[in-house]
Amino acid sequence: MTSVELRKQFLAFFAAPARRHTVVPSDALIPSGDPTVLFTSAGMNQFKDYFTGRRTDLSRAASCQKCLRTGDLEQVGKTAFHHSFFEMLGNFSFGDYFKAEAIRWAWEFLTGTLDVKGTPSPDRGLCLALPAKKLWVSVYEQDEEALALWRALGMPEDRIRRFGQADNFWPANAPANGPNGPCGPCSEIYFDADGAVQGQRSVEVWNLVFTQFDRQSDGSLKPLPRKGIDTGMGLERLAAVMQGVETSYDTDLFRRVIKAIRSGRTKKTRDDRESTNRAIADHVRALTFMVAEGV
Ligand code: ALA
Repeated sequence: MTSVELRKQFLAFFAAPARRHTVVPSDALIPSGDPTVLFTSAGMNQFKDYFTGRRTDLSRAASCQKCLRTGDLEQVGKTAFHHSFFEMLGNFSFGDYFKAEAIRWAWEFLTGTLDVKGTPSPDRGLCLALPAKKLWVSVYEQDEEALALWRALGMPEDRIRRFGQADNFWPANAPANGPNGPCGPCSEIYFDADGAVQGQRSVEVWNLVFTQFDRQSDGSLKPLPRKGIDTGMGLERLAAVMQGVETSYDTDLFRRVIKAIRSGRTKKTRDDRESTNRAIADHVRALTFMVAEGV
């Protein structure tokens, strides 16, 4: 399945009558009217006013957002899945549906089934068909509700992990370190080509954030009057999973760029390494999108 098809199918699944999300185009990489961030780093950025309730003309949205993150820059090229520029597929609820639907629909889209036992989805033409036995999930250690929802879907106990706020809270460690503002526990869905749990080839494909708190300066977590859903799935990772390749640099999103870089780098030098080719490919993409926006 090509990355173009994946983008389309994700948005079509959430726009379909059973889920009724408004498909919103990607915001720019340099967010307009948000002085708190230099670059758009997640799908939820353009929806901040909806999460806080300042705007209410939309209750459900889905998007494929261009993102730029500088935090992982040192890892780019060295690992299979780190990027500076990437695209994030996401579905969002602003005071509308919450954990039960977010979990159910994520499972349905990835597997084409309504539960772990394999009841077919009526919309399976809009879904992927990943095998349940290659997926495992994590929940926040204090989130009994998310745990119960995964159990209700039939997820076996040994395929559910409970992690702390560094892994299963968004923003990470928000309860301890901030920032203040909307935040919440999350549940992550992992794919492992070997069917292992926390295996060497496990890759996190989808992060479901349950935005239910407003962190205060004293560190307390005040429940939000309007709870929300903020999910993010890396298109590059999902493409690698669907195309059966080991890294996102081997997907159709990168293949031609990598080939061009390799063919232009004929001299054997200290830097003639695959990690360097990947870093160049990543940076070329990031720079191209930034130049396109006049940066
Ligand atoms: N906002 C969440 C993330 O970036 C989905 O992981």
